[in-house]
Amino acid sequence: MGKRILFTGGSGKAGKYAVQYLLDQGHRVLNVDLKPLDIEGVETLFADITDSGQMFNVMTSYCGWDDMETGDGPPKFDAVVHFAAIPQIMIKPDNETFRVNTMGTYNVIEAAVKLGIRKIVIASSETTYGICFSDGRVNPLTLPLEEDYDVDPMDSYGLSKVVNEKTARSFQRRSGADIYALRIGNVLEPHDYARFPGFFADPEVRRRNVFCYIDARDLGQIVDLCLKKDGLGYQVFNAGNDTNSANIPSVELAERFFPGVPLTRPLDEHEALFSNRKIREMLGFVEQHNWRNYVADQ
Ligand SMILES: NC(=O)c1ccc[n+]([C@@H]2O[C@H](COP(=O)([O-])OP(=O)(O)OC[C@H]3O[C@@H](n4cnc5c(N)ncnc54)[C@H](O)[C@@H]3O)[C@@H](O)[C@H]2O)c1
Repeated sequence: MGKRILFTGGSGKAGKYAVQYLLDQGHRVLNVDLKPLDIEGVETLFADITDSGQMFNVMTSYCGWDDMETGDGPPKFDAVVHFAAIPQIMIKPDNETFRVNTMGTYNVIEAAVKLGIRKIVIASSETTYGICFSDGRVNPLTLPLEEDYDVDPMDSYGLSKVVNEKTARSFQRRSGADIYALRIGNVLEPHDYARFPGFFADPEVRRRNVFCYIDARDLGQIVDLCLKKDGLGYQVFNAGNDTNSANIPSVELAERFFPGVPLTRPLDEHEALFSNRKIREMLGFVEQHNWRNYVADQ
């Protein structure tokens, strides 16, 4: 049965693929963003996540004109997926990135929980692991990166995502709703596979991402799996593909680019250093878009 989903940030790079995936699964989606989204069957409400009143308001909205036909008022949303954010440092001043991301997420989760919506999925980030936007060439404490790692970013964006995970956990305890945070890896769209020969020629360019990637369509699948899987309370999930965005075996990759960093367990030949084991085991994620399907010269 399709669900009614309020999706923030659906007009963005990752959001538009996730929204399309959810529509393809039969869900009804209302997009909330500052920018338009050109997908048939999805209305966009232009609203600002940093304004609490607007978030309470959009979550009591119709999804579309047809919703008015029953005469019963707007039906309730089953779930909120929250992607809207300033998606990295150096787009806005650091304090503004922190403000928009933390207050926006607080407002979205608070409105959802207080309106009785029992499933919330939020976009966290690989940058929480403290490698991506760190000053200098930083090593992780251990590899592979798994969800129980003591996340320790030194930048305002990564910090905002750590705070958002804490906000999610706090509201989950208060409400008992399911709130899942996706630590999303570097999002790749279909046209990005043309960049892989450049990655192979100079693997260092992927080091700050710990060689992770998530195909935007596979991210849609992960969001859908989160919507389907109830009763997990508060959870953090790495959202990445099965293997590294490199053509070097994983143990060699770790030794070359993160020398001296201990491995906490044996790795399969190309298993991602940004581990997606938890989404495979707990949510049943089966990747559909490994880069090997799209890159001719491997
Ligand atoms: N792209 C990546 O590689 C990546 C990696 C990890 C996590 N993420 C996270 O995934 C989510 C989506 O990222 P993306 O790459 O699609 O970013 P994006 O910038 O393309 O999309 C974000 C959307 O949020 C909207 N937005 C920004 N501020 C808003 C506000 N105040 N009110 C309402 N809407 C607002 C923007 O208009 C935009 O459409 C973000 O939370 C980002 O932090 C992205």
